Amino acid sequence: MTTLVKAWTGAQQRLKAAGVDSPAIDARLLLEAAVGVTRTEVITDPHREVAPDLQAVLDGYVERRARREPVSRILGRKGFWKLLLTVSPHVLTPRPDTETIVELALKAFPENAAFQMADLGVGSGAMLLAILAERPAARGIGTDVSEEALAVAKDNAANLDLEGRATFLRTDWGAGLPDGAFDLIVSNPPYIRTDEIPTLQPEVKDHEPHLALDGGPDGLKAYRELVPEIFRLLKDDGLFYVEIGHDQSAEVEALFREAGGWDVVTVKDLGDRDRVVTGRKKGLGKAAATR
Ligand SMILES: C[S@@+](CC[C@H](N)C(=O)[O-])C[C@H]1O[C@@H](n2cnc3c(N)ncnc32)[C@H](O)[C@@H]1O
Repeated sequence: MTTLVKAWTGAQQRLKAAGVDSPAIDARLLLEAAVGVTRTEVITDPHREVAPDLQAVLDGYVERRARREPVSRILGRKGFWKLLLTVSPHVLTPRPDTETIVELALKAFPENAAFQMADLGVGSGAMLLAILAERPAARGIGTDVSEEALAVAKDNAANLDLEGRATFLRTDWGAGLPDGAFDLIVSNPPYIRTDEIPTLQPEVKDHEPHLALDGGPDGLKAYRELVPEIFRLLKDDGLFYVEIGHDQSAEVEALFREAGGWDVVTVKDLGDRDRVVTGRKKGLGKAAATR
């Protein structure tokens, strides 16, 4: 019978040969899930035996990873902010970059603020649920065109006991939502240029839903649709945060400014790349920016 350390080493070798970027970490995560052990057990009890049926489960996971399926997809879960979310092939795997929006929104709305938010293109529910989880008096709605994505988001809301404050609607961005009803709108729309998608890592181009990636010929199609919707939906002085590709700041800022946005600026992510365009809907003078 094999042992934890042998199983881990074998998995690492297979993943390295397949060109996976982080074979040691990925092999350990798959081993922990397949065998049902913790990271500490792998390190402190390396010679523990692994039953053949569990080794077979691990081999299955490793072959999927070798075909460049992301670990989060194989395990069906991904950490985002302070949450553990269920993911499926129908939702974008939530990215650490997107936590920038959560951080900014939490800074703008104090702990007991009672506000209404919308997350347009909610996917797994990542941003909406991370913000609602930390702001107990807030309520929100997540929209998506993908029924399957909404099912995942609803499942995540229920698992986090947030279903009482989070609702979901299948619609095109904000269509059907009331005018001037929201204090906060967040969105991480598809923003990759169509011709760039085939050049992306296999983990992304072969395993993420193209509906979550494809921003049209110049990558800006979704922003052109979103900008008027965001201003229609926001209350006066309401705040918006949209994620952008690292080279889209000037174009996306211009779209919001031309539509009458105030205090439009770009915020960088932890990797020092342009990541979020934010601003406010012009109000009647409550100008002090809250962000
Ligand atoms: C980049 S993913 C972001 C998912 C999630 N908000 C996140 O940050 O992890 C974009 C999402 O927008 C959705 N989407 C694409 N076009 C849409 C549209 N016209 N209206 C609403 N949602 C749309 C996709 O289905 C996908 O779930």
